Amino acid sequence: MAAKIISGTQVAAEIREELKERVKKLNEKGVTPALAVVLVGEDPASVSYVTAKAKGAEEIGMHEETVRLPADTPEEEVLKTVDKLNKDPKFHGILVQLPLPKHVGTDKVINYISPEKDVDAFHPVNVGKLLRGEPCPLPCTPHGVQQLLVRSGYDPAGKHVVICGRSNIVGKPLAAILMQKKKGANATVTVCHTGTKDLASFSRQADIVVAAMGSPKAITADMVRDGAVVIDVGVNRVEDKTREKGFRLVGDADFDAIKEKAEAITPVPGGVGPMTVTMLLMNTVEAAEIRAGITS
Ligand SMILES: NC(=O)c1ccc[n+]([C@@H]2O[C@H](COP(=O)([O-])OP(=O)(O)OC[C@H]3O[C@@H](n4cnc5c(N)ncnc54)[C@H](OP(=O)(O)O)[C@@H]3O)[C@@H](O)[C@H]2O)c1
Repeated sequence: MAAKIISGTQVAAEIREELKERVKKLNEKGVTPALAVVLVGEDPASVSYVTAKAKGAEEIGMHEETVRLPADTPEEEVLKTVDKLNKDPKFHGILVQLPLPKHVGTDKVINYISPEKDVDAFHPVNVGKLLRGEPCPLPCTPHGVQQLLVRSGYDPAGKHVVICGRSNIVGKPLAAILMQKKKGANATVTVCHTGTKDLASFSRQADIVVAAMGSPKAITADMVRDGAVVIDVGVNRVEDKTREKGFRLVGDADFDAIKEKAEAITPVPGGVGPMTVTMLLMNTVEAAEIRAGITS
């Protein structure tokens, strides 16, 4: 039987409706949640991500400002910009769009963001809190994966989740989220990477496989057991001369083959992607609620 297709577009739209209501409640208290985005340079992919974030913020009634700095801005100036935003009470969330130009230290800039305004949740204080199970903003892509699972009826509790990939932005924080003794988590988590011997022997044991490797169609149908749930985080450009742009996007999982044996699978595009921006908006609304003394 063909797998259920888990639509991130649909789940993200559902969450954005909930966020609109939360923004209205904040408005009643005289608060408008506000997000500051810092963009250094004009990398086309970064520009399009920043545009999507601004559009999403506007859609839910949030204030958003993008601070655009030239690509040759000295590191010191980038830090000063972050410092100014840290001190500006108007903003509840700050995001510095990555990657930064090579002469600007990414860790240095991330560590400079006030942890309370760190809506990307990459600051070491928030990473530590996440691991310890303390309240903190959750990193957007892994939080999006968790929300997709829970809201589609695939609660990870008690399940074996095999995560393929251990990056600091996806694999590691996702493992930290799903292993917590908390609602929507409480899973048994295995994390695989390039040092894993015989990846398939692990992925075949999984109730839920998360592919976050950055390698097109690396998870094939024979690596997934019948009835598994597959969440595909990967976004890869592959050449396609039939398309106007000359490429198309594919995930890290072989969608067409896996959908014939899995219980459910996310498509690429339209799966995890739309969730990431939505979780950023959620973190900003939450930061505003915390400051306004509203508990959700
Ligand atoms: N949809 C979204 O919003 C979103 C957000 C973020 C990322 N992504 C996409 O998700 C994918 C992963 O992103 P990332 O930033 O996590 O990538 P990354 O930093 O390149 O990390 C990839 C991870 O996968 C592991 N890996 C690579 N090939 C493997 C293989 N053949 N077998 C086992 N492990 C393998 C690597 O292992 P080692 O550690 O051993 O090198 C590494 O841990 C990319 O396609 C990216 O574009 C999508």
